[in-house]
Amino acid sequence: MNQDIFGASSMGYALIESQRLERWQSFLKDGIGLHLQHADRNCLAFRMDSHQRRIIVKRGPAEDFAAVGWQLRDQATLNIALQRLHARGITIQESTVAQAAERGVARFWRVIGPKRLAIELFVEPLTSDEPLEMLSQGFITGEAGMGHLAITSRRGKDMRRFWQEIFDARHSDSIVERLAGVTLDIEFFRVNPRHHSIAIAQVRGLPIDPIRTKAQHMNLLTTSVTELTAAFLRCRRLGFEMAHEIGEHPNDREQSFYVLSPSGFEIELGWNALEVEEASWQASTYQGISLWGHKPEKLGAWNQLTTNLGNFGRGLRSLLKPEYSPLQERHSK
Ligand SMILES: [Fe+2]
Repeated sequence: MNQDIFGASSMGYALIESQRLERWQSFLKDGIGLHLQHADRNCLAFRMDSHQRRIIVKRGPAEDFAAVGWQLRDQATLNIALQRLHARGITIQESTVAQAAERGVARFWRVIGPKRLAIELFVEPLTSDEPLEMLSQGFITGEAGMGHLAITSRRGKDMRRFWQEIFDARHSDSIVERLAGVTLDIEFFRVNPRHHSIAIAQVRGLPIDPIRTKAQHMNLLTTSVTELTAAFLRCRRLGFEMAHEIGEHPNDREQSFYVLSPSGFEIELGWNALEVEEASWQASTYQGISLWGHKPEKLGAWNQLTTNLGNFGRGLRSLLKPEYSPLQERHSK
């Protein structure tokens, strides 16, 4: 099938597995400023718009993303994506009633994507008319969906192919970041007008992935610089460490901060992220991830390295275990 589904998908939800539910509740409700939609001993769910559930934190040992929901515009678009996955021999699992309810969607189709990140395709979110009760004035979602996801990889090319072949992702631009003797190549991909929904970072010349978790950070977008600074101050007051204080990226001109979540990966809260004009857009390469700011709260080269790149010991151990790619699976059979 040759139809282009660019523009017809977006990040819909994130399912996180953690033992630190109390801390997650404080972080997302009182820090970032989301609406707490549901809380029991084993599960928290948060709203930021009409969707009943945008972020779900479920009790479990992983301290990592358990799944990312990817919303398709309609059934026809979903069918194209499923057909492409099927044609590549990628196993597709349909949701149970309980799993769909947990994510706040009517149903979903789950695949294990690159780096074993579960990607759950869905069309119909469950929505709520109840007014939002949250500390933030609002978050940007709509057609471009919820923020973006940044993933470190040792197999950037295969990861990139997955998003391009299944969702018709387009390359927006690249950033080269030099850090404590290491060069990181970061590639930005859009699946809709937002400058990027997926960023893929790879250490140049070394087959290591220094990040423990399936994504290095998840980004959420708020509506103004006032909301951004208010959330920054709330998170800090609650004792959440800033991996990078407020700064600005050179490519999408987003101003943002990065805060360490209770599970150890970072949440980036930003505003003012660029939307791409397809007719005139030209991909370029930038030197350095920040125009200004984004300084680590705890200074020092070692801390900079650990908050940016995670634990290098883990990175070295990653040499021993091949990184999973669903595309590679097919070719090796
Ligand atoms: Fe980001």
